[in-house]
Amino acid sequence: MAPSTSSAITLNINGEKYPLSVDHRTTLLDALRERLDLTGTKKGCDQGQCGACTVLVDGRRAVSCLQLAVAADGREITTIEGVADGDRLHPVQQAFLDLDGFQCGYCTPGQICSAIAVIEEHAAGWPSAVTDDVRPEAGPPPLTPEEIRERMSGNLCRCGAYVSIVQAVGRAADGQEDTEGAAA
Ligand code: FES
Ligand code: FES
Repeated sequence: MAPSTSSAITLNINGEKYPLSVDHRTTLLDALRERLDLTGTKKGCDQGQCGACTVLVDGRRAVSCLQLAVAADGREITTIEGVADGDRLHPVQQAFLDLDGFQCGYCTPGQICSAIAVIEEHAAGWPSAVTDDVRPEAGPPPLTPEEIRERMSGNLCRCGAYVSIVQAVGRAADGQEDTEGAAA
């Protein structure tokens, strides 16, 4: 008997379960866009170089064009359609809007998903390639524009909206720290 080339999986996306039968070669990106009509996640290069397809998988950013749908079976996936809280935009979305962090908008869903994870990675103390002091006891470095540019360097913007994108990520990160500080 020929081996099966498809599998039944369940994708947990934005809090909803989507049972699917997928060819083993189907990427998560194609499953989202072509099978589930979740077209907020964009296809740019389809080879892991532009970041347009970035989503969150178990809270970590992932380029969905390089992940097979079968490998995402049962994991928690968040796409741009799921980052807002009802009618209330996510702080990163709001900052992109307020500061014009986009022009055509094609890269924006990936930028926003990446930025959400960047802010969490930074708050958790993860260093980047431009962090001076990487000792754990040094704590998170200031989230300078240089840090933001490095941490967001996997997300390309052909419109060149980088200046505003860096500002938007910085503002969202500041807002989040303020909120956490107020709650503490
Ligand atoms: S479409 Fe996935 S990184 Fe470009
Ligand atoms: S806003 Fe057009 S590609 Fe980034």
